[in-house]
Amino acid sequence: MSTPPQGKLALPKLAEMKRDGEKIVMVTAYDAPGARFAEDAGIDIVLVGDTAAMVVLGYDGTVPVTMDEMVFLTRTVARAARRPIVIGDMPFGSYQVSDEAAVEHAIRFFKEAGADAVKLEGAGPSLSRVRAIVGAGIPVMGHVGLTPQSATMLGGFKTQGKTADAARQLVEDALALEEAGCFAVVLEAVPAPVAAEVTRRLEVPTIGIGAGPDCDGQVLVYHDLLGLSEGHLPRFVKRYASLSREIRDALENYAEDVRSGAFPEEQHTYEMPSEELEAFERTSRSPSTSRPRAQATKSSSSPTKA
Ligand code: KIV
Repeated sequence: MSTPPQGKLALPKLAEMKRDGEKIVMVTAYDAPGARFAEDAGIDIVLVGDTAAMVVLGYDGTVPVTMDEMVFLTRTVARAARRPIVIGDMPFGSYQVSDEAAVEHAIRFFKEAGADAVKLEGAGPSLSRVRAIVGAGIPVMGHVGLTPQSATMLGGFKTQGKTADAARQLVEDALALEEAGCFAVVLEAVPAPVAAEVTRRLEVPTIGIGAGPDCDGQVLVYHDLLGLSEGHLPRFVKRYASLSREIRDALENYAEDVRSGAFPEEQHTYEMPSEELEAFERTSRSPSTSRPRAQATKSSSSPTKA
């Protein structure tokens, strides 16, 4: 197991925060500026979510994002985030096939991308993947409830655990993930009382997204909370800014200024010493006078080059 860099929030601190009733703050990020903003805001965990497929890469769901793309994005985040724990989200296909493949891909996040941990979705078959990856020395965050990689099987992006049986199963799945070695479990789109019960039963922290106020921490997608996402948003999203409006206004103003000549102004323009400018203007007005005689002669007998 590798030693965490100096200043990095220690993983066991998360369980301590749970015991002390101190809320854990997690946000997604997909590039270095996002990671720096999260770091400066004192965020505890930065997840390089496979939501990158939708909010960065323009797909309709999370399934298409590849391992190489996730490694690339995670590396940019890990480079910039010093204190927050950086988690690489294992994309669809990177852990479904076998324990061995899961470990190999988790190692890529850990070794190539510089992630501190990985996250994967589901319980059931995912439990042996968690055991295998933790066994290789890589911390794993679990994720139950609405697991977007299997949204088709779940009947769409729908709240999970709404019947007594489904709620009981959800509690069992979360307990099994803890037992398998997860250091925390994400609960997505789960009724608040069910999430509260999971949180009470687990020793490791729960991180909620659409799972009510009783989880040990909360996570939101960067683009959703900043108002960079457009179109329909799930009801669990709270917007803290309207950046897409600001970006659109700024780009429209820029285009207008370029077309009207209002940009660039003097303050955006470089000058040069007046004597250099005069010399430059002299030579550029009659270029052949400043050239050495031989060259001038040669060029006068050869075709002009652009
Ligand atoms: O990929 C992601 O962004 C996530 C969060 C929504 C928890 O899994």
